[in-house]
Amino acid sequence: MQNNFYITTPIYYPSGQPHMGHAYSSIIADVLARFKRNANYKVHFLTGTDEHGLKIQNAAKKNGLDPLIYCDKISEIFKDLAKRLSLSNDDFIRTTEKRHHKAVNDLWDRLIKSGDIYLSKYKGWYSVSDEAYYNSDEIIKKGKKNFSTFSGSSVEWVEEESFFFRLSSWEKKLLEFYDKNDKFILPISRRNEVINFVRNGLKDLSVSRTSFTWGIKVPNNNKHVIYVWLDALTNYLSALNFPDTSDILYKKFWPASLHVIGKDILRFHAIYWPAFLLAADIKPPNRVFSHGWILSGDEKMSKSKGNILNPLEIINKYGVDELRYYLMKEVSHGRDGNISLKSLESCINSDLANNYGNLCQRIFSFVKNNCNGKIKKTENLSEADKKLIEQTNVLTRNLIEIMDNQNINNYLKSVINISFLTNKYINDEEPWKLKNNNIKKMNNILHTSLEQIAKISILLNPIIPISSSKVLDSLNINSEDRNFTFLDGKDILPNEIKISELDILFKKLI
Ligand code: MSP
Repeated sequence: MQNNFYITTPIYYPSGQPHMGHAYSSIIADVLARFKRNANYKVHFLTGTDEHGLKIQNAAKKNGLDPLIYCDKISEIFKDLAKRLSLSNDDFIRTTEKRHHKAVNDLWDRLIKSGDIYLSKYKGWYSVSDEAYYNSDEIIKKGKKNFSTFSGSSVEWVEEESFFFRLSSWEKKLLEFYDKNDKFILPISRRNEVINFVRNGLKDLSVSRTSFTWGIKVPNNNKHVIYVWLDALTNYLSALNFPDTSDILYKKFWPASLHVIGKDILRFHAIYWPAFLLAADIKPPNRVFSHGWILSGDEKMSKSKGNILNPLEIINKYGVDELRYYLMKEVSHGRDGNISLKSLESCINSDLANNYGNLCQRIFSFVKNNCNGKIKKTENLSEADKKLIEQTNVLTRNLIEIMDNQNINNYLKSVINISFLTNKYINDEEPWKLKNNNIKKMNNILHTSLEQIAKISILLNPIIPISSSKVLDSLNINSEDRNFTFLDGKDILPNEIKISELDILFKKLI
């Protein structure tokens, strides 16, 4: 039986140009999607744009465009970003699509039927930039303006008729749900944060607005538009053709295996979303993984702070694999990470050009120049060959588990260490000195090195798909064999192999 894996990125607000924070969320999800495909899962990977609400209505107005025309334009930019980042998404959803409206209407109807929605009046703080309501104890006054202490965004006072979701009545059931599903929120620090927040008491949530029009209308009440977060979260269902629960996509992929999100949108995904779903009698997702922020200096990188590193400019200058590798290596699991051009360049040099790239280049050119591209291994491996293989086995032992906990950063450290050890083995074994006196031993060293390169390239494939595929192509490894079965001790390469030409993979930056 094939296992299914449904993974999502957040759907992005098309309120401006995409930046590194967006790229970061997307790349994490793509790496995990590719990893699962290589582990022989049937994967469905979704990304898209979140196009309703006041934030988008304001952005469209600022650009002098009708909201839909504005969204048509900017969502194309996000689609293009997905391509430029080498995302392997199976779908791109826009919340202005019909399929999405249908799903949101159905979810709303379910919540009405279950008695979880009632009409009242909202009086309180709202942040347009976060599209979030805040309690009075989460507000700080600076001069004449008020800000959320949680996000730092400015807030405004809102008083309007609104439908409410009975979130308060889900407090106990949510705590039971977290208790039963101890890996629903990762990392653990975020799980604790959410549990504490829920334990402190939940207030009913306003789920409709009447002071603007850009959104999905509440069924049978045109005065109200549905709160953009209730609308947006439903995208994860609409992409599977919900409400048709007999649809093949829905049956195969719901509940979602993993929502990848940033820590700023954790409450929506880890509190509101499972509460909406439980109330509507739909299974909640299996996991929400919350990553940290990309910082520039000590601040969150964001449009409003004007400290943006543009991912497209970085890709044009350094290459997409280079950016993907750097972000995954530099930022620790679930933590914030500072990025800069200087550390990007040093990472490219040390890990990609001098380590993995150099390993591939030196072995491929030696085999091509001295062995006519052909190598045959004999059975008598030396102690050094065996030691390298054993060290590699130790380093790869927990890699599947590490990735199943979304710890890409630790995974990469182990993989790049295998590459380092292989380079060291080659330096110590000096195959070039054996050319005239011990061809068999030389061939074994070269074959062992190529097998190591194959393993490392398969392991790096989810992170640097373009460069690793070039190496795997040059090793003439079929695409269906580029999977993790070697982790059970199976060789990847046959005893006798022929390699093809390999171009320079990574240029060293001076
Ligand atoms: N539209 C909502 C998501 C709805 S999902 C049902 C949204 N969009 S966003 O465009 O503002 O952000 C999308 C993702 O980018 C979020 O996961 C957010 O955490 C991430 N990032 C935005 N800026 C970031 C950084 N500076 N660093 C890392 N990620 C951050 O939220």
